[in-house]
Amino acid sequence: MNVGQIYRYSSCVPKLKEFLKPMSKPSLLRYFRSSKVLTHGEFEYQDPKSEEEVVNVTYIDKDGISNNVRGKVGDNVLYLAHRHGIDMEGACEASLACTTCHVYVESDHLDLLPEADDKENDLLDMAPFLKENSRLGCQIILTKELNGIQLQLPKATRNFYVDGHKPKPH
Ligand code: FES
Repeated sequence: MNVGQIYRYSSCVPKLKEFLKPMSKPSLLRYFRSSKVLTHGEFEYQDPKSEEEVVNVTYIDKDGISNNVRGKVGDNVLYLAHRHGIDMEGACEASLACTTCHVYVESDHLDLLPEADDKENDLLDMAPFLKENSRLGCQIILTKELNGIQLQLPKATRNFYVDGHKPKPH
C-alpha cells in the first residue's frame, strides 16, 4: 500500500482520516507496512529454496517410466506433478470430488502417510483399478520423512466431470 492509497482510503472513513492527520509520510508507511503474501497456487510452483526442504519423489507413469523430481516440504503431490509435466489429472483441483489423482504408494512410505479420512476412502471406492496401496495424490502433502517416496499412476482414471474438465497447470 502506498501513501496515496492510504489517504484515498482514509478519506472515506472520517475517524481514520483524523487519526492519520498528524502522522508524517514515513511513519504512515511504517504503520501500514505489509509483507508479501503468497497468493493461491504460488507456493506449489516454487522450487525448494534449500537442500533441507528437498523431498525427492519418483512418479512412475502409466507406461512404467520413472520420473524423479525434487519436491519440497509442504508440496501437494498433485501440484508437484503438474509442476513437472507429469500426467496426474486432478480434475477437481484437490477439492476431494473426483478420483483422477489416484496413485499407488509403494510400501516403504505408505505407512508414513496419515490415514485416509472417510471422504477419501469413499472416493477411492469408486476409483478404477483400486489396490491396497491406493491413495488420492491431492491428499498427500510432502514431509521430510517421505523423502524417496514412489508414486505409480494407475492405467486409467475416471473423470466424473460431465464436460471432462481437465485442469491446466498455471
Ligand atoms: S484432484 Fe480430485 S480428489 Fe484429488
